[in-house]
Amino acid sequence: MSNRRPETMERITTPALASAFIDEQIAAVREQVGDGKVLLALSGGVDSSVVAALLIRAIGKNLVCVHVNHGLLRKGEPEQVIKVFREELGANLIYVDAVDRFLDKLAGVADPERKRKIIGKEFIDVFAEEAKKLDGIGFLAQGTIYPDILESGPVKSHHNVGGLPEELNFELVEPVKFLYKDEVRVVGKELGLPDNMVYRQPFPGPGLGVRCVGAITRDRLEAVRESDAILREEFARAGLEGKVWQYFTIVPDFRSTGITDGLRTYDWPVVIRAVNTVDAVTADVAELDFNLVKRIVARITGEVKGVNRVLWDVTPKPSGTIEWE
Ligand code: XMP
Repeated sequence: MSNRRPETMERITTPALASAFIDEQIAAVREQVGDGKVLLALSGGVDSSVVAALLIRAIGKNLVCVHVNHGLLRKGEPEQVIKVFREELGANLIYVDAVDRFLDKLAGVADPERKRKIIGKEFIDVFAEEAKKLDGIGFLAQGTIYPDILESGPVKSHHNVGGLPEELNFELVEPVKFLYKDEVRVVGKELGLPDNMVYRQPFPGPGLGVRCVGAITRDRLEAVRESDAILREEFARAGLEGKVWQYFTIVPDFRSTGITDGLRTYDWPVVIRAVNTVDAVTADVAELDFNLVKRIVARITGEVKGVNRVLWDVTPKPSGTIEWE
C-alpha cells in the first residue's frame, strides 16, 4: 500500500466526516484481518487510544491491547486506560505492571540519552514477552499518523528507538496513518473517547523519566508525578486546558535549604514549565497570571513530599528545549 495520503482525501473536520472515515476503516480492517487476532501497544496517548477504539468497533475481542505501566506515566493514567478500555469499551486488555523492572534498570543512570534508550528497549522487551505468551496473533496495530510518515516533526524522527524485534514481525494494521493530529482527535471524539484523552497535551514516550532529571529515584519521581498532577489540576481550574500547548513540572537532582513550620529543610525544588508553540521547533513561554503561579507554588510546597521550593522556567526555545533532558 502506498504511503502517500490520497490527494482526493478530504480533511476530517466534522463529526459526519469522522463517522464516514470510521465506517470505511472498519470495513478495511475487517477485510485485512478477517478472523485474525491483532496486537496493540496501548499507551493511553491520543493515537494508540484512537486506534484501539476503532479496532474494538471493527473486531471486538480479536484486538488484544497491552498496556505497559513503566512507572513513568502521569498520575491516574494507567487507571484511566483500564477504566475506559476494559470497563467501558469491553476491550481485551492485558495490563502489565513493569514498574519495578523499569526503575531497577534505570537506577543510577544519569545520562539522558541512555535513559531514553533503556526505556525504549525495555518497553519493546516487555511488549515482545507479552506477545510471545499469546497464541494466534497475526497482526500488529500501530498508531502511526501522517506526520510520522512524512517525518516532518522533529520529535519522533530523533526520538524513536530502533526497529521491531523478530517476535513482533507481524503484518501491520495502521488505520490512522494518513491522518493529521487534529483529524485523529475529531475521529477520537466521534468514537466516544473522553476529552482528556482526545485533547491531551503532547507527552514524551519516556514519560516522566526525562522530567526526573539525572538518575531517577523513586522519591523524586513521585515528586514529579504529584507536582504534575497539581499543576494540571490548577491549569484546568483556571480554564487553561487546551489553551496552553504543553505544561508540566521537572524535579532537578539538587537540593536547597528551606524552612517549614519553623524547621530547616534540605529538599528538592520543582520547576514549572509551560510553553506555547506551533511545531515544537521553537516555543514561547506562556504568560501565566501571577496569582495562579502563587497558588501552584503554595500547593506544591504544601502537598508534595520532599519539596521546599518552586522555580518557574521562563526560557523560550531556543535557547532552552521544552524538556530539560
Ligand atoms: P524538546 O525538549 O526537544 O521537545 O524541545 C520538543 C517536543 O518533543 C517532546 N519530546 C519527546 N517526545 N520522546 C517523545 O515522544 C522523547 O524522547 C521526547 N523528548 C521530547 C517534548 O515533550 C516536546 O513536546
